[in-house]
Amino acid sequence: MGSYVNLLKKAVYNQHLSREEIIRLLSAAGEEEIRMLYAAADEVTRVHLGNEVHLRGIIEFSNHCKRNCLYCGIRRGNKKLTRYRMEPDEIVNTALYAFKLGYPTVVLQSGEDDWYSMEIMCWIVKNIKKTANLAITLSLGEKSSQEYHRLKQAGADRYLMRFETSNQKLYGQLHPGVSYENRMQCLFTLRELGYELGTGFLVGLPGQTIADLAGDILLLQKLDADMAGIGPFIAHPDTPLKGCGSGNLDMVLKVLSIVRLLMPQTNIPATTAVGTVDNIGRQRALKAGANVIMPNVTPQKYRELYQLYPGKICIDERPEHCRICVEGLIMSAGKIRGSGFGSSPKWKERAAVIQP
Ligand code: SAM
Ligand code: FES
Repeated sequence: MGSYVNLLKKAVYNQHLSREEIIRLLSAAGEEEIRMLYAAADEVTRVHLGNEVHLRGIIEFSNHCKRNCLYCGIRRGNKKLTRYRMEPDEIVNTALYAFKLGYPTVVLQSGEDDWYSMEIMCWIVKNIKKTANLAITLSLGEKSSQEYHRLKQAGADRYLMRFETSNQKLYGQLHPGVSYENRMQCLFTLRELGYELGTGFLVGLPGQTIADLAGDILLLQKLDADMAGIGPFIAHPDTPLKGCGSGNLDMVLKVLSIVRLLMPQTNIPATTAVGTVDNIGRQRALKAGANVIMPNVTPQKYRELYQLYPGKICIDERPEHCRICVEGLIMSAGKIRGSGFGSSPKWKERAAVIQP
């Protein structure tokens, strides 16, 4: 126990641990060790980021995807899925509705769908920005540097793209026909272009080890992510990974807490997937280092078609309902709703020095 406490202290003071030390923290099995880890992460969150939980309204605007990630319910190979695309003006109007609901940020997410040309995407971003003081996060997958540049010029503030796993061999097995190197290159390019960068990974992928998770945490640090999205893998019945076991919530929370200790100023969402594997998963995440929630503002008619995994929460709810629900969730975790855009403090420092 003493050595575990010393490791927690080292994580807090140094914000650096070796792979072996991270593995030791992740291997905690005793109730007391795990309780201490979560409590330390919660305290670090409070000290660095306060008691605020920031809200980002997510609009899942297209479930068309040219990629074939083995775990994903909207993969190209899933022929059972009815596909949809929201019209550009419908996306703008939904973002403005999110603004009306009081969300300071919208996340525009889709599969990798080339139907939305650069002209269309830039038109959407510009038209949202023209009308509302909203921070815009894009989550569109891999694009060229020129395209990322154009989207930034149009007004996009943030980009969200997980590296999914730092194990290159596993990455190759799960993502046929695409390259790990390109994903990494995209992430470095996004940072260089001045985006506030969100990335992250899945916990509980078939074949993933604890050592891989330690590598994932180290990669997050190397990328100096402004936001770290960490969620459980949940097996989808219409994918090649059907029947595989899903990620374990306790392991997700341990990973999340360690990320909080090592990256105290990074925004960490209590993900929808965490709320899907356990109905109080998001409250638990908020008490273990998370400080962001991404309520769904996608129009209800599309929600059930954006099932990346089965059992996804909020499918039958309307955006207004999610708005009220998350308020309760934040209060029940003993936190308060954040004000402003909720940018990570280290990104603000970077942006103050470097004007892209
Ligand atoms: N196309 C964009 C991209 O590649 O970043 C955004 C959309 S993608 C569907 C959003 C995220 O969903 C992925 O980064 C992945 O981690 C998550 N996801 C997909 N399938 C999942 C599953 N079966 N269980 C948990 N999360 C999943
Ligand atoms: Fe949608 Fe709770 S956040 S119902």
